[in-house]
Parts: sequence; structure tokens; C-alpha cells
Amino acid sequence: MNIEEIKLQLDRSSDQHLYIQLYSKIKKLILDGILKPHTKLPPIRKLAKKLNVNNITVVNAYNLLQKENLVYKKVGSGTFVNVINYNTDTEIDYKQYLHTLDESNIEYLNMFGNVIDFSNTTPTNDLFPVEDFKYVINLVLDRDKGNAFKYQESQGYYPLRETIKNYLSNYMINCDISNIQIISGAQQGIDILSKALIDYGDIVFTESPTYTGAIAAFKSRAAKIIEIPIKKDGIDLIYLENKLKSFRPKFIYVMPNFQNPTGYTYSETKKLKLLELANKYDTLLVEDDYLNELSFNNKYPQTLKSLDKNNRVIYIKSFSKIFMPGLRLGFMIIPMSIQKEILVAKHISDISTSGLMQRALDLYIKMGLFKKHINEINRIYKKRFEILVKSLSDYMPKQISYFIPEGGLNFWLSLPQGYLSDELHDLCIKRNILITPGSIFYANKIKSNAFRISIASVHESVIESGIRQLSEIINELLNSSNINKYYFNPITHL
Ligand SMILES: Cc1ncc(COP(=O)(O)O)c(C=O)c1O
Repeated sequence: MNIEEIKLQLDRSSDQHLYIQLYSKIKKLILDGILKPHTKLPPIRKLAKKLNVNNITVVNAYNLLQKENLVYKKVGSGTFVNVINYNTDTEIDYKQYLHTLDESNIEYLNMFGNVIDFSNTTPTNDLFPVEDFKYVINLVLDRDKGNAFKYQESQGYYPLRETIKNYLSNYMINCDISNIQIISGAQQGIDILSKALIDYGDIVFTESPTYTGAIAAFKSRAAKIIEIPIKKDGIDLIYLENKLKSFRPKFIYVMPNFQNPTGYTYSETKKLKLLELANKYDTLLVEDDYLNELSFNNKYPQTLKSLDKNNRVIYIKSFSKIFMPGLRLGFMIIPMSIQKEILVAKHISDISTSGLMQRALDLYIKMGLFKKHINEINRIYKKRFEILVKSLSDYMPKQISYFIPEGGLNFWLSLPQGYLSDELHDLCIKRNILITPGSIFYANKIKSNAFRISIASVHESVIESGIRQLSEIINELLNSSNINKYYFNPITHL
């Protein structure tokens, strides 16, 4: 049968992309034997016109079919149905490949096989959209050939910056393409910002507790760090203003949404007041937005940047937690006044972020795959989140206080005053449970009764048993005699 005799209908109200729908329909026709080997598929333009879709929709569908060897292309003649080979040779090859895996890697994996890792904030591998990304990389390589491997401009691949600008309008962030700087991960953003702005002895304000990678970057520039306590509704503004009266920081580094490590989100009033203070005391705010997209109540909290009327906010966005950390991709929105310094620091750091990865991300977002991925991880994380919340309520001893965030990956828990979370951490390791003790999140590594657990690296199936075991260990610690040995700053703990 000829495909033109078949009625192909695409569902425009469906969430699924039109090219995927088209690919699936033709695939089914081939696998069902309705389209016989060597049947010619309609020319791209003709089919696009018939279905009332863009040519690229048909191109993408045909490319997917070709990728699966369901069709073949003859230069100048068109696309034809392939002879389907049902043997499993490819699977055998794959198994052989597995045998070539470095034995030490396998040992390493086994060693951690039984560990329940609440400490890691890296997504589990199954959350990485490997197939989709592979497909997009191949499209980029077919399209751009060697250009994909040249040095990219230090500021970043222009089409990606344009795509990001459009993407940001969904979040009410307006900026020029020229304000966007591509970076090899948010950590690099923090680092080049430090190189560009901080001189020996300069002052930087941070929330307390805060992200350890930021503390390390500021310390590497010999900055003096002043820590401002964070509360459940955001940074302590009274404490902050008092410090601003005495010190002029180069910037204030904050995570207003789903803060790391606490999970706290600033109220809108606090966000606005913080912007007001930055203006009043003439300083900059560095907003580290590492997972705004992970919201469990379908409401995306506002970014500071979207409220920033006076260009006070340097916005840093990571794609690590919401996409794939190994890509090493992120971006910053920077005011014109510091653009030159940032560009120089970026160039010195790594000349440019991988051009191939930038091109692939650009196409990935343009094809709507990023949005699809965010929906998917939100669904998975929400499930993990719900199981964790229930398990905490079922098992955690009542002396433990904890905060339930509205999104993100992190939960912040506190032992009663006098107990040390480093000690809990050591006990947990012996029982194959990993947590992150609070002490590492302070610039001066104070003793802390708080600790962080994350849902990034734990599958649904192990969360309940992990929290049950953690609760047992905590009970043992509470029943031991180690109380009242330590003093804690009551402002910085729950
Ligand atoms: C708050 C925060 N900012 C930045 C980073 C670094 O992210 P990237 O992998 O994009 O360098 C992390 C990583 O854990 C983080 O937690």
C-alpha cells in the first residue's frame, strides 16, 4: 500500500510533539507490514502540506525513522521503507560492550550498592534524557558539521542566548541577548564573578547556611564573608540592614527559591524588600537559581530577577539539577556595567563553554524537549517528595524539627539543641545511610545540630526504608548521653 492512500491524522491537542506522532504512526505502518519494504515515503514538502505542518516536522519524523533503521534515504530519490531485520544482533553487541566496562567501575558501583544516599543532590541517572539528547546531538552534527567543534564565542553561542532570552520571558524575566553570558555550570559563574568583582579583603554577604561551592569560591579570592541568617520566609532583613550600615559588600549572594541547604523560599515581600535594600545601600545581589523549575504545587516562585527594576541582580542559572550536570551548562544575566570584566574572567577560565553542548541545548529547548523533560522530572520528584514527607511524619522522632519545602530537592532537619549532626552523620555512614551534616554550610564551619537530606539521588523504592533507618539511628543518638556538649547560635537553626 502507498502511504498517500492512508489517512494520517495528527492530534494537535495532544502534549506529544507532532513529529513524534508522525514518526509513531509511520513506524506502526511499517512494523505492521502495511508499508512494504522499499515503498517510497512522500516527499517532505508534499507530506507537510497535506498534514498542514512545517517541513521540519516531517524531516524530524523521517530522521527518527532512519535512526531506527526503519527507512533509508537515497540521495536525490527520497526516503524508502527498509527491510526489517528482527534478529537480536545489536543486543548481543551491546552485551559485549558491557563486558568491556572497567572492572574497577563495577566494583565501585557494587561498593555503593546498598547505600541509601540522601546526601547527594545529583539526579539519579534514570532521570537523564539520554535518548532524546543523543538524537538532538546527531541532528546538530548533521546540520553544523565541523562548526560544532570550533571555539565558540566566549559570551556564548548566539542562537542559544536568543533561545534563553525567549525562554526567560515565561518567567517574566526581561533582558537583552547581550546581557546573557553562557557559563560551564553555575559553579563557574560564581567563580568568574568572584574573579571579576572581588579583590583581596573585599566583603561578600551570604545567607547562613549557604551553598559550600560559593563559600569556597569567595574564600579563594580572599573575601571576607559575612553570614546573614536565613529564616523560613527568607533572609533576616533586620540583621542584614544592620550589617549594611557598617559594611559595603561587593554583593549579597542569595538563593531566594528552594534555598540550598534549607529548602526555604523567600516571601514576595522579602524579595521586594531585599531589592530595596540593595538599592538603598548601593550593592549588587547575586541570585543563584539552581532549581526554580522544581515546584511541587505547580506555582513557580518568582525570581528576584523578575522583580528587579534597577538592574541590581546578577542572575545565575544552572542546568545541572534540572537537566544533566555533566553537560556543564548554565548562564548568567549580567548588568552592562560589569560585562567586560565577566567576559575577561570567562575567557581566562576556559575560553568558551563547549560549542557542541550549547548547540545541542539550543535545539533541545527549541524542539520543546526541555519543557517535556521538566514536566517529567517534576512528576518523578513530586512522587519522591510525597513519600519522603509521609515517611518523615511516620517515623521521625518528635524531637526532630524539619521544614517541608514547596519545591526543590532539599529538606533541612534539626536535632534538638546540644546534639551534633556530624556525629549523626558518622553513625549513619556505618549503617550505609548518607546525610549531609549542617556544619559544611557555614563559612566558619560552626558546629551544627542541623542536617540536609535530598531526594535527588534516592529512588522511590528506598525512601521509606531509608527514613525508617535514619529515624532509628537518630533515636539511638537521642538516647545516648552526648547532650549539652555544644553551643549553637539559636538564630541560624530551626
Ligand atoms: C546552589 C548551587 N549553586 C550552584 C551549584 C553548582 O552547579 P553547576 O553544576 O551548574 O556548576 C550547585 C551544585 O550543587 C548548587 O547547589
